[in-house]
Amino acid sequence: MSQLKNDRYLRALQCLPVDYTPIWMMRQAGRYLPEYRQLRAKAGDFMTMCQTPELACEATLQPIRRFDLDAAIIFSDILTIPDAMGLGLYFETGEGPKFKKTISCLDDIAQLPIPDPGQSLKYVMDAIGLTKKELGGKVPLIGFSGSPWTLATYMVEGGSSKTFTKIKKMLYCAPKALHLLLEKLANSVILYLNAQIEAGAQSIMIFDTWGGVLSHESYRAFSLYYMELILSQLKRGKKSQNITSYVPVTLFTKGGGLWLDTISKSGADAIGVDWTVDLNQIEQKGKIAIQGNLDPSILYANKETIESNVESVLCEFGYHNGHVFNLGHGIHQDIPIEHVQYLVESVHTRSKRFHS
Ligand code: CP3
Repeated sequence: MSQLKNDRYLRALQCLPVDYTPIWMMRQAGRYLPEYRQLRAKAGDFMTMCQTPELACEATLQPIRRFDLDAAIIFSDILTIPDAMGLGLYFETGEGPKFKKTISCLDDIAQLPIPDPGQSLKYVMDAIGLTKKELGGKVPLIGFSGSPWTLATYMVEGGSSKTFTKIKKMLYCAPKALHLLLEKLANSVILYLNAQIEAGAQSIMIFDTWGGVLSHESYRAFSLYYMELILSQLKRGKKSQNITSYVPVTLFTKGGGLWLDTISKSGADAIGVDWTVDLNQIEQKGKIAIQGNLDPSILYANKETIESNVESVLCEFGYHNGHVFNLGHGIHQDIPIEHVQYLVESVHTRSKRFHS
């Protein structure tokens, strides 16, 4: 097993001192990269890329070769679980993800299987194993899953949604059915993430992209509760001198800025925050790691604007341990790549003075 050469990201997640602030970007492997578009065209479709370990590995490594990022995230998708449950995931150009089968009643939910990660999701574990080998310890590898609530929104709505009408109707009119679905998803996610850890993932991220559309009460009962269940059952290992003996978990609820106090008690090692949050106001800094939170649209602007906004985020976070620089959400597909270069360089250079 090769030694990890850059452990800044894992150290920051454990709130340990670092020489400068580590950075990675949500959706760093994706369409803003010309080499990704080429690979994607050759593969034919997105799911073939996810399901072919060599292609998933190559897509994971592309941003790592081009930029001085401090972590790699395995190329896959949160919707692999509903696909493995038999819903038939497919992508229509320009329309986002779709399912052949959707979930609308208790009967549908009762019939859903809990996928065995060693069978129907083995391709993800194979991709992690191969990528870990190819990385050769250059940077740590992040594994991930969607939160049960976020996965349920896609399964009940049948794809992306702006209003979440169907799942909210289920929440208020058939809460027991929704709870059963969320419980099945939580159990599936536990097996899936523990298998990713076993396959070599060195950190885990839970994407709760749609937690922020809930009321504060529903957020606790229908999203946070199930993420806490997952957190309590992940095999994270033990913290020791050897930084890689522990697998830290980051929980990202987009739009969860008002609930950081509750989220910080969930058992997560780090909280991901979007750009609506003023890092100055986070009381838990230094005790729990914070990931974020540049507005991804700032990357459309010129070098000076990018640099001044990086400076603002770093100053807001201040002189604490435990900052992982990231965007507040995924990178847009039409961002000029040289702007990503400015971002990474400026985070590394400008953050040094906060760590001396
Ligand atoms: O971050 C990375 O680089 C790793 C890969 C990754 C993808 N999706 C690749 C992808 C990760 C971590 C995800 C997570 C994901 N997928 C989330 C949570 C994060 C977030 O953005 O909130 C969600 C909600 C999804 C579901 C999903 N997958 C959507 C809505 C789409 C369509 C997006 C679009 O703009 O068309 C996808 C497809 C997808 N997943 C792409 C990529 C690179 C684009 C597919 C393509 O190449 O055509």
